[in-house]
Amino acid sequence: MSKILVIHGPNLNLLGEREKDIYGQTTLADINALLEKEAVSLKLKLHVVQSNHEGDIIDVIGKAKKDGFEAILINPAAYTHTSVAIHDAVRAVQIPTVEVHLSNIYSREDFRHKSLVAPVAVGQISGFGVNSYVLGLHAIAKLLKKISP
Ligand code: DQA
Repeated sequence: MSKILVIHGPNLNLLGEREKDIYGQTTLADINALLEKEAVSLKLKLHVVQSNHEGDIIDVIGKAKKDGFEAILINPAAYTHTSVAIHDAVRAVQIPTVEVHLSNIYSREDFRHKSLVAPVAVGQISGFGVNSYVLGLHAIAKLLKKISP
């Protein structure tokens, strides 16, 4: 079974109480439960990490290959727009990475319009709420040829 690393960036631990008008009522635990359910049907094994610390995220990406992960599903949250270090870590590790966002970052403030992760990701899914994660996991399953078109 392919092992997938799921990374939730800063403040995503506050989902459900944070800016509900933008991010909805769903908690991070709800998202993780949904992903676990999808993973069973896609025959993927997930390892889920949430961190508010850039260095922790870089560490986990940096050893992802050694740890046997075949793909990364990441919502880098605010670090999307600032982190050259996460960009470099994804580039360095050379594991297919899919970037997801709950909100449509291009319909929000200008500072959210640029992703430093997107250029090193296989692709980005933004604006579908919790479904962004589900779509991202399906994209990974396709990349790894776990499901046919
Ligand atoms: C987010 C969008 C980011 O701009 C923001 O900083 C987040 C969440 C999203 O999922 O919509 O924390 O990544």
